[in-house]
Amino acid sequence: MSPSLQPEQKVRIANAFSKAAKAYDQIARLQKSVVKHVCKLAKQSLSDNSSQPLRILDLGCGTADLATQLEQEISCFDYVGVDIAPGMLEVAKSKMTTKGYQRDFVLADIENLPELGQFDLIISSLAIQWCDIKLVFSQFEKHLKKNGCFVLSTLLDGTLAELNQTWLKLDETRHINQFLAEDTLRHKLQAISSLTSNVLSCVEELSYPNVLSIMHELKGIGANEVVNSDKQRKLTKAVLRQLEELYPTCNNEKVVSWHIAYIKGQLKNI
Ligand SMILES: C[S@@+](CC[C@H](N)C(=O)[O-])C[C@H]1O[C@@H](n2cnc3c(N)ncnc32)[C@H](O)[C@@H]1O
Repeated sequence: MSPSLQPEQKVRIANAFSKAAKAYDQIARLQKSVVKHVCKLAKQSLSDNSSQPLRILDLGCGTADLATQLEQEISCFDYVGVDIAPGMLEVAKSKMTTKGYQRDFVLADIENLPELGQFDLIISSLAIQWCDIKLVFSQFEKHLKKNGCFVLSTLLDGTLAELNQTWLKLDETRHINQFLAEDTLRHKLQAISSLTSNVLSCVEELSYPNVLSIMHELKGIGANEVVNSDKQRKLTKAVLRQLEELYPTCNNEKVVSWHIAYIKGQLKNI
């Protein structure tokens, strides 16, 4: 979604995610499957023979689902989760306390991290699409140890394309966030001279009984805030009826595509 958002837009995003935090874990099915894959890639990236506790930084940690997954894979690590939404951090802290884990959480913006020390691994799942990629990776030089690595996931152009095309039949206002095209993401990463990285992409399709359930899910996970858009049309019953009619139906279901990029890499040894 780069470039960087205005402060008031960041506040709106933080508020939407804070509001969604309590129900997030019950609703976020796509996000949970992406977290599992990030966790698998992170495990592969770490050297097995490290005897020290690993330091792991999770950017846009949300309810700390990645930390929960990592507990099952890695025996000994220090974890710092960063998020811009206070509500998400409250849920994350209480989840970890219930499980008896001591983990650190910091309210901060990924694009402008405070002093947190250096880490063996930086992870992030479905958070950096709200950020300027260049600013995100500029943080890595300061926060990654010499042989440290990173594994991130983000959304690409094509995500929610069916919903976008359906809205376009009704009006010209943008109702869906714009995400980077895969080629643009690759070029932006190649332009960062301090890193080596590679990108894997895939498309996940989720089915819903109707458009209303798609809208509920987007709101329920806090992803309903559309940035850089003019005043949006209200989702009245009449608008919803039109969207239901216009949205393509396949075997009585409404399909939503999520285009996901997984980015793995490390700092160059210069
Ligand atoms: C879709 S959720 C993903 C949460 C978690 N990583 C997961 O996969 O379950 C996106 C998270 O990114 C956070 N976020 C968005 N922009 C951010 C920013 N600039 N700095 C820190 N966190 C941010 C949101 O508050 C939200 O918790």
